[in-house]
Amino acid sequence: MNPLKNRSLVSISDFNREEQISILDMAEDFEKNPNQDLLKGYIVATLFFEPSTRTRLSFDSAASRLGARVIGFSESSSSSVSKGETLKDTILTVSNYSDIIVMRHPKEGSARYASEVSPVPIVNAGDGANQHPTQCLLDLYSIRKTQGRLEEINIAFVGDLKYGRTVHSLVIALCNHRATFHLVSPPALQLPESIKWLIQSNHLTYKEYEELDQVLSFADVIYMTRVQQERFADPIEYEKVKNAYVLKSDMLGSTRANLKIMHPLPRVNEISQDVDETEKAYYFQQALNGVYVRQAILTSILGVK
Ligand code: CP
Repeated sequence: MNPLKNRSLVSISDFNREEQISILDMAEDFEKNPNQDLLKGYIVATLFFEPSTRTRLSFDSAASRLGARVIGFSESSSSSVSKGETLKDTILTVSNYSDIIVMRHPKEGSARYASEVSPVPIVNAGDGANQHPTQCLLDLYSIRKTQGRLEEINIAFVGDLKYGRTVHSLVIALCNHRATFHLVSPPALQLPESIKWLIQSNHLTYKEYEELDQVLSFADVIYMTRVQQERFADPIEYEKVKNAYVLKSDMLGSTRANLKIMHPLPRVNEISQDVDETEKAYYFQQALNGVYVRQAILTSILGVK
């Protein structure tokens, strides 16, 4: 039996190293052959209490290519949450109509709570500034595909490392693969202490920087992020850091030949559009990889692969 069958995916740590690798291996197969009727008769619910383009639509695409039906909502204002319905009641109701629930919610811990009350598996599509484990798996897939390995990469995370949930999940996962972490952020947006502690407890190295050009020459992967305006309590604090980093094509001259620039997207202004035309830009292919990885996640948890 598939060991992931009927398991929720709330934190990237819910799947161990081998289980994460098994998802990447399955995604490789789906990339070669994405249209299969493996989920015919299944219903996937996508409940998005926060905006999304890539996560919601790539889950929709992944499920549709496998023959599943997709139900759900893309904003809570179109659900009975707007009438005061609790998250628990929403989850219990939707679990009557579906085999698996993919949920994004602005509150940290909401996905864990949903998994504790739900009779069907919950897949966390982002809970506040906490975690985004399915993005993490597609990021791992993208790193392995472009670098030929996951082990011992030099990765530079740039931008909002405090609120960036994709950063949190990916740092945690790369602790399994002996990465060296280069953390570029304004002082106010540094990686949370709990995650820095995790790096140290794995006897791995991290270095903190304030300038992007300090890491350009040695990174295998530069993982750019958007400053998460919606997480700031004080708009003045956002204004101070919103333009902290802008990566431009003329900065790529002395970078490694194998460098790939990744970004979970959406971007605001942190990657100049002239980078898109360079062979180092990988963010749109990265988003495409999300379809295959989410096909692997759905089929594993639903136990059909
Ligand atoms: N990467 C990501 O989570 O994008 P969306 O917010 O568009 O889903």
